[in-house]
Amino acid sequence: MAVFGTEFTAHMVSSDYDNGQWSELAVVPVAPIAMHPATHVLHYASECFEGLKAYRAADESIHLFRPDRHIQRMLNSAAQLLLPVPDAETLGRSLHMAVQAVRAEIPTYPGALYLRPTLLGTEEDIGAAARPTKKALYYVLTSPVGDYFAGGLKPLRVKVDDKAMRSTPSFGAVKTGGNYAAAMRQVVQARQELDADQVLFAPNGDVQETGAANFMLIQDKELLTKPLDGSILPGVTRDSILTLAADAGLQVSERNFTVEELLERAPHAEAALTGTAAVLTPVGTLLHDGKEITVGDGQMGPWSARLREQLCAIQSGAADDPHGWRVSLQVG
Ligand SMILES: Cc1ncc(COP(=O)(O)O)c(C=O)c1O
Repeated sequence: MAVFGTEFTAHMVSSDYDNGQWSELAVVPVAPIAMHPATHVLHYASECFEGLKAYRAADESIHLFRPDRHIQRMLNSAAQLLLPVPDAETLGRSLHMAVQAVRAEIPTYPGALYLRPTLLGTEEDIGAAARPTKKALYYVLTSPVGDYFAGGLKPLRVKVDDKAMRSTPSFGAVKTGGNYAAAMRQVVQARQELDADQVLFAPNGDVQETGAANFMLIQDKELLTKPLDGSILPGVTRDSILTLAADAGLQVSERNFTVEELLERAPHAEAALTGTAAVLTPVGTLLHDGKEITVGDGQMGPWSARLREQLCAIQSGAADDPHGWRVSLQVG
């Protein structure tokens, strides 16, 4: 299977917004989108997206993982960007239609079908910098993905940046391209200069998240992570891991914490990143101010391993689903 993000199915689901109305959802071939050079999204970044997965269980049944959460997040992103967006029911139907259209191409677990619902402002008007687009395009692109960890699960080297911001205080919860554009330079620089895998953004010492994943620390039966205050993305994997941690008897503390506290606790703790693509990945080393701090013994700790395994078993369909996170594919 190709590198994540580069292989697509031949069909997607799409809908256009014009004259105050969304067109019927339609399955269409994946093909280049013709756009006028003045299209709103190309100038004013009127864009948001989601990332979620559909799985093929051992019994060949197909399910989506927590699509409702991704739909809610897309509705919130669109609202913040003043983008027209289909209603929750239509968004849900679009996900099932997109999966159904390419059902035969969904790999068996640990592979999956990655879904990328995307919403763009398509009005042709470069004078519309300060008002919403009147036209939009919504589509659900899908991509078969292989085992993310085929090469083994290697603990990450993470630079702790106590100056740069990934986003703004109010836009951090919005899944929009601009946030990734803002973070990219820091990540590339950390990779070049420190051989770091990721940057943990901690502006003014406030530990937030990395460019594409939430961050958590586990020590002495406590899981510590930043609360959802609008400055970070409300990760669906974050919520799932927090729920499983509470089920397992860990104390879940959603509170602000500083770089100072993080660096002091790291040698005796476990640290992890969570997100749809990688589920849960251990952090082995923190890089800060010219120093390298090993997290615990530098390997994946027992709680991280246990929570990761539990979530993977629910996602794959191998374990019971006590919280109702799997949603069976609705054949329409
Ligand atoms: C900035 C950021 N934080 C966190 C996450 C994790 O979110 P989720 O678990 O919903 O994939 C992502 C991935 O989408 C992300 O881009």
